[in-house]
Amino acid sequence: MTDISASDLTLEEKASLTSGADFWTTKALGRIGLPSIMMTDGPHGLRKQAGGSDHLGLASSVPATCFPPAVGIGSSFDPEIIERVGAAIAVEAAIEDVAVVLGPGINIKRSPLCGRNFEYFSEDPIVSGVLGAASVRGVQSRGVGTSLKHFAANNQEFDRMRASSDVDPRPLHEIYLRGFERVVRDAQPWTVMCSYNRINGVYASEDPWLLTQVLREDWGFEGLVVSDWGAVNDRVAGVAAGLDLEMPSSGGRTDAQLVAAVHAGDLAEGVLDTAAQRAIDLVRKAQARPTVTGPLDVEAHHALAREAAGRSIVLLKNDGALLPLAASRTVAVIGAFATEPRFQGAGSSLINPTKLDAALDEMRVVGGDEVSYAPGFAVEGGAIAASGRSADDLRDEAAAAAAGADVAVVFLGLPAAEESEGFDREHIDLPAEQLAVLDAVLEANPRTVVVLSNGGVVALPFADRVPAIVEGWLLGQAGGGAIADVLYGVVNPSGKLTETVPVRLEDNPSFGNFPGEFGHVRYGEGVLVGYRWYDAKGLDVTFPFGHGLSYTTFAYGQATAEVEADGDVVVRLEVTNTGDRDGREIVQVYAAPAASAVQRAPRELKAFSSVAVAAGETRTVELTIRRDDLAYWDVRVDRWIVEPGEYILDVAASSRDIRSSTTVQIAGDLVSLPLTMESSVGDVLAHPVAGPIVMSALGGFMGEMTGADSSAASMLPNDEAMQKMMASFPIGRLIGFPGVDVTHEQVQQLLAGANAGVLPQA
Ligand code: BGC
Repeated sequence: MTDISASDLTLEEKASLTSGADFWTTKALGRIGLPSIMMTDGPHGLRKQAGGSDHLGLASSVPATCFPPAVGIGSSFDPEIIERVGAAIAVEAAIEDVAVVLGPGINIKRSPLCGRNFEYFSEDPIVSGVLGAASVRGVQSRGVGTSLKHFAANNQEFDRMRASSDVDPRPLHEIYLRGFERVVRDAQPWTVMCSYNRINGVYASEDPWLLTQVLREDWGFEGLVVSDWGAVNDRVAGVAAGLDLEMPSSGGRTDAQLVAAVHAGDLAEGVLDTAAQRAIDLVRKAQARPTVTGPLDVEAHHALAREAAGRSIVLLKNDGALLPLAASRTVAVIGAFATEPRFQGAGSSLINPTKLDAALDEMRVVGGDEVSYAPGFAVEGGAIAASGRSADDLRDEAAAAAAGADVAVVFLGLPAAEESEGFDREHIDLPAEQLAVLDAVLEANPRTVVVLSNGGVVALPFADRVPAIVEGWLLGQAGGGAIADVLYGVVNPSGKLTETVPVRLEDNPSFGNFPGEFGHVRYGEGVLVGYRWYDAKGLDVTFPFGHGLSYTTFAYGQATAEVEADGDVVVRLEVTNTGDRDGREIVQVYAAPAASAVQRAPRELKAFSSVAVAAGETRTVELTIRRDDLAYWDVRVDRWIVEPGEYILDVAASSRDIRSSTTVQIAGDLVSLPLTMESSVGDVLAHPVAGPIVMSALGGFMGEMTGADSSAASMLPNDEAMQKMMASFPIGRLIGFPGVDVTHEQVQQLLAGANAGVLPQA
């Protein structure tokens, strides 16, 4: 390890350290004994390209465990399992001498259409932030770095390298940056990856507000900012804004631009020193990693992938306790996904799995011999497609199989070609051919279970007609085994939805504003993203955010809440497992101020906990709401403000299944805005110093306007209506009105006195 610092290097050396050597590695600097390090994707396993690092390696990478992508494991709502998976990925990275794993991705699922939603956790920033922090902690606990991505407001794939996400300050802070802030503050990722897109017109890769003011000055980020691969638009502007490392290599072209900019006085050399120092520091951190030697324990990691996949599955519906299946039952498995699983999405996160479970095989292992199979439909590129059998033939065979079995289990899902980095989906529907097979099966046997494989949320037009629905997301390489575990009750399902399942795409808040046009996408729904919107509008949803069933049942006791000395709120309640199976319940706490000066969703998730409760057991659950998480972003003062007063806390099993409510009184933050001639009468009247004085000065005027002193009909119904109308009048505009007995100078003096906190004479 070297102790040399960046300022000791030549200008050319400094510039060279701030861009990659090739696709995946940084540049070594032999003169000071600084080695090169490797960064690779990420996030739910390792995608280290086989051979050299001079190409993207999308086609071939070294075998690695494919854990459930974020869409799956996010449904666990459990930082603990995410941390364990992170640590396992880090072990695989260390064996392969990878210094930084490019993940987690924590962008908000603004639209169900975003092609990369399978790589993201949630439509809610607290969920994304808490789970993202867990992922970072897990990986970094083994001396391997992470790259928190894609910073920021990268919520679609369409035109992702140029489009401007036009977002107002409140949603930007409260929804799109909040999760990143959480991860940075709680877990200090070694690197943050800036996104491709522009935010309000400025490229993320060259935005000093984003990369320096927000990320470093406000949140205290200590690591290195790396560009998304190819995100650099103007390298000099980028470095000046706080971009430390350009990836991949530009072949020296942009390094030379940095050198020229310093010579020309367009870039301060100290700024380049800082970036180069961060690059050196990153390498030093990587060098400190404890040695891990292979070979990889493939079976142990596969078992962890299975456990994680089991925790990712969401039981959406289970009428008449159709599930779990008894091994004595004859089961007709239908749907090609049972033998040709969809277990991950396409793009940079594509992993070459060490092994791959198929649900049909695993069901036969777990459930016994009574499992028949009919493919039902073909999946693109699969064996059935190659067989050339007609859709009618496949459907009829499926219906016959269902008719001859006690229960039909139908595997439906999205075609792989629909879910990828680089483009968005065009709709949220399952293929019509699959729905036709389901209809035929339902007619043949109403005792039908649907198992879904999808990375992005899909419409479920059959939700009322099918007694049991298992959301299997994309579950990674061991998903087949996990599905068998859940279907047969070896694992009691415990996942819940981190995103709403809407009735129709048209109901989604971003509809009409997605994916934008001519280089701009307007985030017109503001802060009402995801369930916040559906709740505010009172819209029906197919399954609400936070929903998920178990094979057991849970009773919630009365919640109590207490404000701690530091302002955080601790919520306590008892949860009882009232069934006869051990299980896990994800307890959620939503909050809303009883009254607010700004637009708020009816309730926002503020804390959650996944708790294991044995059959018949009662556990006391304690959840902490951070005071900061109650804040809204105040555009007048450009900072977080916690409003004072009463907050309603709903303890819930889902966003629409509230089990117990309580309230707390919160001591809020003071927003003191100086009074000016532009201040409204309402603002001035509310001021403790100026208010009473202005009230008495306006007394006569009010009387005149309401006709209080005359017998003539009043212009306004009463004093209250008058006051309401006058409240929005800028105070300066009233001066000189008949009945307003104050001069311009007197009002100015009064406002100055009020701003200085001078109390009126008694
Ligand atoms: C993706 C990143 C990824 C990088 C390297 C980019 O296209 O947006 O998520 O880490 O490529 O593969």
